[in-house]
Amino acid sequence: MIVGAIKEDLTLEKRVSLTPDTAKNIIGLGLKLCIEKNYASHLGINDNEYRDIGVEIKSSIDEVLNSSNLIIKVNCPTEDEIDRLKENTILIGMLNPSKNKNQISKIIDKKIKIFSLELLPRITRAQSMDVLSSQSNLAGYRAVVDCIAEFEKAVPMMMTAAGTVPAAKVLVIGAGVAGLQAIATAKRLGAIVSATDVRTASKEQVESLGGKFLSVEQSEDMETAGGYAKETSDEYKKKQADMMKEALKKNDIVICTALIPGKPAPRILTEDMVKLMKPGSIVYDLAAEQGGNSAFSEPGKINTVESIKIIGVKNLMNSLPLTASSLYSKNLFSFIRNLYSKEKKDFNINLEDEIIEKTLIKKV
Ligand code: NAI
Repeated sequence: MIVGAIKEDLTLEKRVSLTPDTAKNIIGLGLKLCIEKNYASHLGINDNEYRDIGVEIKSSIDEVLNSSNLIIKVNCPTEDEIDRLKENTILIGMLNPSKNKNQISKIIDKKIKIFSLELLPRITRAQSMDVLSSQSNLAGYRAVVDCIAEFEKAVPMMMTAAGTVPAAKVLVIGAGVAGLQAIATAKRLGAIVSATDVRTASKEQVESLGGKFLSVEQSEDMETAGGYAKETSDEYKKKQADMMKEALKKNDIVICTALIPGKPAPRILTEDMVKLMKPGSIVYDLAAEQGGNSAFSEPGKINTVESIKIIGVKNLMNSLPLTASSLYSKNLFSFIRNLYSKEKKDFNINLEDEIIEKTLIKKV
């Protein structure tokens, strides 16, 4: 069985789905591997690093697609790639099925089995495959680094002979994977950190990282059985806004990470609320591409309103593509290991396995 990896559209995506480290592991399963030439040269990884491990370098995308039983990608294939995909193969990636309905439907029509890794169940056995966690974790880290680069003051408290500089205050909205990593990173840099989330279960996690949890009084349980957040009621929104208004006046940097699966990002900060912040403050909206948690945020732009910078994030993983590729590729390896049967020497699409059943897209 042959696994093939093709390039991404480099104008949008710098990550790759196969790193040399993971290639070694996939070959260790008894599978063969091939890639397009110059597959990861934009990341400084040359073809020889793959060739030395035993990966075959093909001269074109068609050669890879025609010789592979399973194709791995980061993003959904382009229209042109879909036309070239061979029937009856398997495709694995982060295919964003709710956004790419037309493409997915065309791929299904070609009798290709598609697995989209964002659909993985959040169960212990799937943790090593969890692309949402591996990438969100990096996003939370990078959010803090980006904010600090834009912030025109020092972050930690400094007691110097010339006087004392107070520590910057960072507020994190949404304490999921990205939010928790943002809290940890901001703490490491010496900021005073607080955070809020609709899920009360996150309070303990925030506090264990040294953050202060800002609660909104509530009677309803805001967590779904799957551990995700529910959409908030109007009453909750009002209480959250009142709490947020006080917090915004005090904080220098606000990192927004709130999401509700399958829905647009909740709008938490209105225009008036953002304007309550001090001049020189920063709002960093990780949810910008999903509609944004904050007013004034636009993906890929930094907007300045009354000397407050609102940073709308776009393609954040392109800021650390090597680490993001390394983790994504490891997630893919774990998924392939679960899918491949060494005994049968074939991919085993066992729908009784929750991981396989949930990630396989049957229809759009
Ligand atoms: P996410 O990326 O879907 O959302 C980010 C955070 O925003 C969540 O914590 C959510 O509660 C919060 N949020 C949503 N609406 C909000 C609002 N209006 N105001 C404030 N906060 C709001 O979340 P992520 O990181 O995917 O985590 C979701 C759940 O999955 C969590 O319970 C987490 O512990 C769990 N999880 C489980 C894993 C596993 O068992 N393998 C791996 C990773 C996460």
